[in-house]
Amino acid sequence: MKKICLLGASGSIGKSTCDILKKFNNSFELVAVSINKSVDILESIILQFPSIKSVCVCNAPIIELQKKYPRITFFTKEDGLIDLIANSSCDMVVNALVGFVGLKPTVYALEHDIDVALANKETLVAGGELINDILDKHHSVHLYPIDSEHVALAKCLMHKNHKDVKRLIITASGGAFRDLTREELKGVTLQDALKHPSWSMGEKITVDSATMVNKGFEIIEAYYLFNFEENKIDVLLHDESVIHSLVEMNDHSYVADLGPADMRIPISFALFEKEYQKNDTLPSLDLSLLGSLHFRKLDLKRYPALELARRCIKEKGTLGCVMNAANEACNLAFRKGELEFDKIEEIIKKVMDEHRIIDHPTLLDLIYVNNQAYQEAINYIKELKK
Ligand SMILES: NC(=O)c1ccc[n+]([C@@H]2O[C@H](COP(=O)([O-])OP(=O)(O)OC[C@H]3O[C@@H](n4cnc5c(N)ncnc54)[C@H](OP(=O)(O)O)[C@@H]3O)[C@@H](O)[C@H]2O)c1
Repeated sequence: MKKICLLGASGSIGKSTCDILKKFNNSFELVAVSINKSVDILESIILQFPSIKSVCVCNAPIIELQKKYPRITFFTKEDGLIDLIANSSCDMVVNALVGFVGLKPTVYALEHDIDVALANKETLVAGGELINDILDKHHSVHLYPIDSEHVALAKCLMHKNHKDVKRLIITASGGAFRDLTREELKGVTLQDALKHPSWSMGEKITVDSATMVNKGFEIIEAYYLFNFEENKIDVLLHDESVIHSLVEMNDHSYVADLGPADMRIPISFALFEKEYQKNDTLPSLDLSLLGSLHFRKLDLKRYPALELARRCIKEKGTLGCVMNAANEACNLAFRKGELEFDKIEEIIKKVMDEHRIIDHPTLLDLIYVNNQAYQEAINYIKELKK
């Protein structure tokens, strides 16, 4: 039995992970979970998994919970995430947190030789170099991506020699506004942005999909996960979200990964350490009903976030951390109605332009830069409101 510590259990990825853990309860034991403040969801998870021995509630009172569940050890606040991992004796951390808050627990787990199944893409965007340094020093520990595009790439690259690969191609649905011009983005609302054409996900990543910041982040993720040059990682608009990513080989043949848009498939692949697991409860995809698949070239002027992400790879150091922090501030401000959607990339760029990069940052450097860049983005947002 593999003991699992699930961070961000109450979110979209967290709930899908619980589904897989329940289905394969002969292989996994869920021993520890975290939430931010969704106490109702936490209680339903505790009732479904009597194996849970410890819980971290980052941002809500725990007194009532402690009285109700005396057999469970409770931790609180952001530091509680580290205590949770440290006290859980888990074999794998599933990191389904959203945002920069996910970096520290990933670092802690890997440094303590605990495998990580990583949905929290902000970890690699902000701290890709640091994570790869840790992986270089800890040979026995593994990082398994959960993002559907990266699981698809991992599948396509299996049993392939890197030197035979021409390029990686990450597919993009284009998000809620894919058929709008930049001019037409003026005045779009949160409700509009949350209408993702193919995936049902948490609010932050759904807005990131609409700006394409998410796809930019996925280029950065792919760079740190698979060790290909930045100019060998392309993005292709693909309306149906059926092909999750492709690899073009040097002989011009393609290897692609197709499947239903259901995150439980990549989650299962990560939890089983890159094994395809039979699961009849998941939907299947009838290709004969599809008819056709569509592909379009990306207009980089329409989606400036992609070039910003490529800059983070080229210039390295703390720049990815800055892009991530500025985006977190802008994404939240847009969701709170404090910032227009079409200003998001402009502010991210301003904060990035002003940043003096620190090379080979430590975790402390990244935490400092994250706070600073977040605050600078907030200052710009306030200036715009004047
Ligand atoms: N959803 C997808 O299909 C998908 C696909 C690929 C990659 N990802 C990536 O996976 C990660 C999770 O995405 P999601 O869509 O599952 O997000 P989500 O639905 O918003 O869930 C986020 C989880 O993190 C917790 N959380 C939020 N802020 C926190 C904080 N400050 N401190 C501690 N915990 C906090 C939330 O707790 P509460 O519920 O209590 O707020 C929740 O459990 C993101 O990095 C995203 O980019 C998601």
